[in-house]
Amino acid sequence: MTEINAVTTLTRDGDVAVITLNSPPVNALSAAVRQGLYDGFKAAGASDAKAIVLICDGRTFIAGADITEFGAPAGTPTASLFDVQTMMEDSPVPVIAAIHGTALGGGLEVALCAHYRVAVPSARLGLPEVALGLLPGAGGTQRLPRVVGVETALEMMTSGRHVPAPEAFKLGLVDELAPEGELRAAAIAFANKCVAENRPLVKISDNNTKLEAAKGHPEIFANFRKANARKFRGFEAPEANIKCIEAAVNSATFEEGLKAERTLFGGLMSGVQSAAQRYYFFAERQANKIPGIADDTPVRPINKVGIIGAGTMGGGIAMNFANVGIQVVIVEQQQAPLDKGLATIRSNYERSRTAKPEETAKRVGLITGSLSMEEAFKDVDLVIEAVFERMDIKKDIFTKLDAICKPGAILATNTSALNIDEIASVTKRPQDVIGLHFFSPANVMKLLEIVRADHTADDVIQTSMKLAKKIGKIAVLVGVTPGFVGNRILGQRQREAQKLVLEGAMPWDVDRVLYDFGFPMGPFAMSDLAGLDIGWVKEKSHGETIRDVLCEADRRGQKTGAGYYDYDENRNAKPSPFTEQVIHDFIVKSGANPRKISDEEILERCIFPMINEAVKILEEGKAIRASDVDVVWVNGYGWPVYRGGPMFYGDLVGPAKVLEKMKEFEAKMGEQFKPAALLEKLVADGKKFADLKG
Ligand code: 3HC
Repeated sequence: MTEINAVTTLTRDGDVAVITLNSPPVNALSAAVRQGLYDGFKAAGASDAKAIVLICDGRTFIAGADITEFGAPAGTPTASLFDVQTMMEDSPVPVIAAIHGTALGGGLEVALCAHYRVAVPSARLGLPEVALGLLPGAGGTQRLPRVVGVETALEMMTSGRHVPAPEAFKLGLVDELAPEGELRAAAIAFANKCVAENRPLVKISDNNTKLEAAKGHPEIFANFRKANARKFRGFEAPEANIKCIEAAVNSATFEEGLKAERTLFGGLMSGVQSAAQRYYFFAERQANKIPGIADDTPVRPINKVGIIGAGTMGGGIAMNFANVGIQVVIVEQQQAPLDKGLATIRSNYERSRTAKPEETAKRVGLITGSLSMEEAFKDVDLVIEAVFERMDIKKDIFTKLDAICKPGAILATNTSALNIDEIASVTKRPQDVIGLHFFSPANVMKLLEIVRADHTADDVIQTSMKLAKKIGKIAVLVGVTPGFVGNRILGQRQREAQKLVLEGAMPWDVDRVLYDFGFPMGPFAMSDLAGLDIGWVKEKSHGETIRDVLCEADRRGQKTGAGYYDYDENRNAKPSPFTEQVIHDFIVKSGANPRKISDEEILERCIFPMINEAVKILEEGKAIRASDVDVVWVNGYGWPVYRGGPMFYGDLVGPAKVLEKMKEFEAKMGEQFKPAALLEKLVADGKKFADLKG
């Protein structure tokens, strides 16, 4: 064995040279890896090896460029990725990439420069750069369509999807599937076969057949753009990815296409969107790290989960666990709502069709119902209460759970607002009580706020964090505070949206500004969708708010064809003269004059108080770090990921500007805008929101 450098070795197996990378955690293409590859291929090429296999140790093949290097000052010059790729493609002996784990981004771009690719069935391949606001910048945009065709390349590159190896095999991306666990031997056997059969040295960049098929068909691109316009709205990277594939089709040579790729890559890399999306990538991973709780803290086994409440929330929560093979029992007080809840779960599964019918049946079979907590919860490892938001009801339930559940069972509440310390106080085991705040629909939404109460034990937190990952959630640990992190910040935006309307902005003005900022919809459109009458009681309604008047006029949102907006039969919204008149009447009655409010003021009034509130949350230690707030808002509330999150955006605007505006609003409109003391300090110290810790 020759040690090429700290992360690369070269060994020999008969006629085959084997280059092995070992750069944990994911063999990313750091300077050392690039240099190791370059020197490894050079040494292998200089030997009498008749073929070369590139394989990785550890959990994965190369998972991409090293994202931590992006935007960092250049270190000692090393071999470029381009140098490595050229050496691979031009090798006079066959080069075979042996893939396990993931071959992503630059990793797949390296593999595409091998003459052949062998993969185990569990491997996944993809160009996910779009999720980082980028495009594949190492020839991937030019090589992928040459292998899989233009349409598939468009789909893969704009979605960033990780394609399973068996599908990649069908697409021609993988040449042979190797038995699981036998990749090295299979790749070496494949290499020997190439030599014995004198197989051609396939150079993807030379083969234009699949591009020819798309030449003279600009409608392929036009249709793709049109079909995905909604999905791509606001993002720069998907369009740049599409342009690269267009360049692959329309350029006279491979090199000309590469040049277009390089220019477009440079544009994205220096832009704000990619900076936001790369920041967000690490923010999400950072959220898993809990200071003071080591990653190897033992977890409690969770094999059976109890849920109280078979409503939309309880049912959605149940599905998460059944999806990963965990048994669930749901308890309701009456048979009818229990039956209805179980039926809804069944029909949700049938409608979603994400799994094969037999798998769906298995999942449905894992969820049972019961009318008795005593019976159902004797042996559960975790119970999640998802009933009405009333403290007396929750306390009653937790008193019962304390009596019923086995020692060590985790007792969780899905409350979105109530004080979990108070709930825990009725039990003799507050160390086992935690908040698991799912977002609706709970089987779809990724965010999970895990709420640490005063006495919650470390292993209960650790178990909850690991369990969240297992069920595919992105978990953020937060503290007990009204509305926790997400809803507490949302409260600021909602209040300002309502106030702006009472000062003269129309709901559609507020909605448009927030939609253009990148939210999927504004607060008024959202209310119309959810139903204006949620929490509205007819008997108690006396026209005291705009909502009261709208509901009294049977304008209860989309479902009644009218709410803040008027809706046509296809639920297309248009501004409503009725609503406008109601608003006008309210303003006149208050003795004020409606005023013209600029888009800039709408945005600043809605967003800056959110940033200020986030700082207060951190000041109170209710979130661990600024980036956790961003993870909550991107995942749970539709904050556009290309703006990073409220804290990242605050840094873009500048803390000084946020403070100045908050002071200006406070002087004009009072207390609600009072800047957080920590915001003042941040500005005085010349620091950034991103530096804040809770
Ligand atoms: N660069 C640097 N660090 C990376 C990385 C990368 N490309 N990919 C993952 N990591 C780090 C993570 O930050 C994490 O670090 P931590 O343990 O300190 O938090 C660690 O590796 C493990 O990552 P995950 O927690 O995400 O592990 P999973 O097993 O859940 O997922 C993965 C593994 C699927 C590889 C996932 O990490 C991933 O999707 N990585 C990014 C892949 C990617 O986007 N590649 C393209 C990069 S851009 C590029 O290649 C440009 C090129 O075209 C020029």
